[in-house]
Amino acid sequence: MKLSWSHAVMYVRDRDKMIDFYTQVLGFVVTDQGPISPAQGAPQIVFMSQQPEEHHQLAMVCNRRDEAASNSTHHFAFRVAEFASVTSLAGTLNGIEGIKVAPLSHGNTLSIYFNDPEGNGLEVFWDTPWHVPQPQGKPWDTSLSEASALDWVESSFADEKGFVPREDYYEPRRQGIQ
Ligand SMILES: [Fe+2]
Repeated sequence: MKLSWSHAVMYVRDRDKMIDFYTQVLGFVVTDQGPISPAQGAPQIVFMSQQPEEHHQLAMVCNRRDEAASNSTHHFAFRVAEFASVTSLAGTLNGIEGIKVAPLSHGNTLSIYFNDPEGNGLEVFWDTPWHVPQPQGKPWDTSLSEASALDWVESSFADEKGFVPREDYYEPRRQGIQ
């Protein structure tokens, strides 16, 4: 058996606010929604996706009652294909009250970490051309150009043991695991 990741489902308090954030800021599309069961008073579930082959990548069950920040999931992470998507999203998020953005590079990524309106942790990242053993992270400057950011990553992580072009790490894994 081989498992591939499909989706995660979270409990939310404010359905409309969360739909607005995930659709307008992060670009998800609502693919379906409705009561989760025929039972009287059953909560609504909202399905969202950005991938045509996945009915939903995220879903929200809208009956969260506790007011505390979410504390059982550290973060959900999403990959983007373009460096500029990370930096422009950082700019957008910095303009939203209540959202805190923390840019962090793991050497193999240029990432931003942030919270959604209900305190769930999120990461959006762009792959760098390198692999470096984890965990590690250094704050980075999202005002850098792509070329300058890559120069910074290389100079900041190249001395780490195991810093290699990413294919040197992933190709053996493909042959051994897939
Ligand atoms: Fe992560």
